[in-house]
This record gives sequence, C-alpha cells and structure tokens, in this order.
Amino acid sequence: MLCLLLTSCLGSKVYRELLPQEPLPPTELASGLASLSAKDCGTCHVAIYDEWSESMMGQAWTDPVFQADFQERDELYVCRHCHTPVTEQQPELTVGIDRVLPSVKTSTVDNPHFQPELVDEGVTCVACHLQDGAIVGPHDDIEAPTRGGSSPSDRPEPPASAATRCPDTHRELEVWQAATGSSDDCVTCHMPAVDRPLMEGYPSRPGRQHTFAGSWEGDMLRSAVAMSLDGGELLVENRAGHNLPTAEPTHVLELV
Ligand code: HEC
Ligand code: HEC
Ligand code: HEC
Ligand code: HEC
Repeated sequence: MLCLLLTSCLGSKVYRELLPQEPLPPTELASGLASLSAKDCGTCHVAIYDEWSESMMGQAWTDPVFQADFQERDELYVCRHCHTPVTEQQPELTVGIDRVLPSVKTSTVDNPHFQPELVDEGVTCVACHLQDGAIVGPHDDIEAPTRGGSSPSDRPEPPASAATRCPDTHRELEVWQAATGSSDDCVTCHMPAVDRPLMEGYPSRPGRQHTFAGSWEGDMLRSAVAMSLDGGELLVENRAGHNLPTAEPTHVLELV
C-alpha cells in the first residue's frame, strides 16, 4: 500500500533526492563498547532494552507487516534507510539509479562494513545514540563507561531525509505548535518521563521510557482526539502533535 506514496514520488525531484548522495561513513565504536549491537547495550541498560525490544523501533525490521510490504515492493532500498538506518546494517550501498519505471532498478556495491547480525535490530540503539564515536544522551554529568554528549535530537537528519518530506511529521509538528502554542515535542509524547537508574547500582535519574507508542497502542490513539458537542455541531480536536493520522500514508482514522 505504500505504493501510493511511492507512485506519487516516482520520477519526481523528491524521488531522486531519496538517493544517498554518497555512501554513509562507518559508525565509530565508542570506547568501552564491545559492539554496535543493542544486545550489548542491554546487558547494562536492562529496562530500556526491554521496552525498546517490544516497541516498533526494535521491531522495525522483523515486524511481519513490514516484511510483507517490503517483499511486495521487491525489497526497495529506501525502506532500509529508515527501518535499518545504520551503515553496518546495509548489505549493499546504493550508488545509482538506473531506471524508475516500470520498476526501480538501482546500481549497488557490496558494503564492506556490513554486519548481518545487526539487521534484525531495526532502529537499533546506536542509530540514535552514537555520534562521532561518542554515546550521546541527555545528561551532562555522565562519566564512564560510555561518554556523554549532546542530545540525540541534535543528530543530523538521516540520508533518506527527502523521504520524510513525503509524510513530514516534523513540519507537521511545527504547524501544530504554532496553532496550539504548545511546546510539546516528539519526546514529550512518544517517550513518557520516568525516574530510574540507567543501570542497576546507579542513582535514579530523570529519564525517558523507550516504548515509542504509536497509533497501534490503544491509549495513545485515544489520547489523539477529543470530541464534544456544541449545539448541533460535533467538534473534533486533534491532540496529536501533528496531522491525525500521520506518517504511514495508508493509515485512515474512522470516527464511529
Ligand atoms: C522516512 C522513513 C521511512 C521510510 C523510508 C519507510 N518507512 Fe515504513 N515506517 C516508518 C515509520 C516511522 C513507521 C511507523 C512505526 C510505528 O508505528 O511506530 C513505519 C511503519 C511501516 C509499516 C507499518 C508496520 C505495522 O506493523 O503497522 C509498514 C508496513 C512499512 N512501514 C513499510 C515500509 C516499506 C515497505 C518501505 C519502503 C517502500 C518503508 N516502510 C519505508 C518510516 C519509514
Ligand atoms: C558496561 C555497561 C554499559 C554498556 C555495555 C553500555 N552502557 Fe550506556 N551507560 C552505562 C552507565 C553506567 C551509564 C551512566 C549511568 C549513570 O551515571 O547514571 C551509561 C550512560 C548511558 C547514556 C546516557 C548518556 C548521557 O549523556 O545522557 C546513554 C544514552 C547510554 N548509556 C547508551 C548506551 C548505548 C546505546 C549502549 C550500547 C551501544 C550502551 N549505553 C552500553 C553503562 C553501559
Ligand atoms: C502532543 C503529543 C504528540 C507529539 C508532540 C508528537 N506526537 Fe506523534 N503521535 C501522537 C499520537 C497521539 C499518535 C497516535 C495517533 C496518530 O497516529 O496520529 C501519534 C502517532 C505518531 C506516528 C504514527 C505511528 C503509527 O503507528 O502510525 C508517528 C510516526 C509519530 N507520531 C511521530 C512523531 C514525531 C516524529 C514527532 C515529533 C516531530 C511527534 N510524533 C510528536 C502524539 C504526539
Ligand atoms: C529512536 C531513537 C532512540 C532509540 C532507538 C533509542 N533511544 Fe535511548 N534515548 C532517545 C532519546 C531521544 C533520549 C533522551 C530523552 C530526553 O531526555 O530528552 C534517550 C535517552 C536514553 C538514555 C538516558 C536515560 C533516559 O532514560 O533518558 C539511555 C541510557 C538510553 N536512551 C539508552 C538506549 C538504549 C540502550 C537503546 C536501545 C536498547 C536506546 N536508548 C534506543 C532516543 C532513542
């Protein structure tokens, strides 16, 4: 069904911008880390790992609905840019586009940095937390074993950023903030606040759950709309921080 979006992009400038301009650099390993795998992070950050594993971020690749769609799209390379965003998760690097119609044909080269065991991890921890060889997170006062740094929201846009211009949740957020005066952002709504230690044996800190709830979560979806009757008029208020529904272009919201 994502073909709707892709068809509308086919042959257009937007579609051509989906191509990586140059292959991504390999991810530098932070000192103190054994590997890029979420499983390693999970040996210390147990609670966060468990939440992430259950979330759509952790299942972005293994999710059967995604896999079915991906196969139907003939394993279109752009899907990997968001569903497995780290360089080491790419079996091949796309270096050119030979043909758009009737189906996309690309030129690829083998990726020398490919680590097959990372693919199933989908949007894995280091996609958000590793930058220039340093672990980035919200706390300024964190010491070993992993270095702290600026917030993950400071990360540069991923190479497929042109694709996000199709269902553009980020621009939608700006429109919603301007309309409502709210300063809530993606983290406020999608990563609920929690006080807990980052690892067993450490002091409690203000942190964020890694559940990344979306429209598939009942309470989250219910929180998105408020309905009231004003005389004969039904008022429907959008309380999601963006269009409702957003992102996945095939999602439809029915009010019954
Ligand atoms: C710009 C980033 C981006 C790209 C490119 C992308 N996706 Fe997604 N995809 C997402 C996000 C974000 C979600 C929503 C995850 C959630 O529900 O929390 C999603 C969800 C999905 C879902 C719904 C899964 C479910 O169980 O509900 C399917 C199916 C899917 N994507 C297929 C694809 C396919 C096939 C491609 C390539 C043609 C693709 N996506 C490319 C970001 C992307
Ligand atoms: C050997 C245990 C261990 C491993 C493995 C580990 N961490 Fe940590 N991490 C810690 C400890 C300890 C802290 C600091 C806790 C404190 O001071 O409260 C920390 C802090 C952090 C922070 C907060 C940084 C900040 O500046 O706010 C992030 C983010 C983080 N780790 C992510 C990761 C990721 C991602 C991985 C895997 C790639 C990982 N960690 C692997 C133990 C570990
Ligand atoms: C005010 C709260 C709020 C803010 C701010 C917010 N969201 Fe959402 N988001 C929701 C709610 C509620 C839903 C479920 C309804 C829907 O699908 O639109 C949702 C759904 C989503 C979905 C769809 C997931 C799916 O399964 O279809 C994505 C992707 C998403 N948000 C991304 C973002 C991003 C990225 C940002 C920041 C740019 C953001 N959200 C900011 C509340 C918020
Ligand atoms: C989609 C991006 C994303 C992914 C994937 C992700 N995180 Fe985070 N993480 C964040 C953000 C954003 C914050 C900071 C929230 C804030 O306070 O503003 C954060 C905060 C943290 C912190 C600091 C403590 C806290 O609770 O805020 C740790 C530790 C951490 N993440 C570890 C991990 C580990 C381990 C994984 C994988 C199992 C992971 N993260 C996956 C985005 C991500």
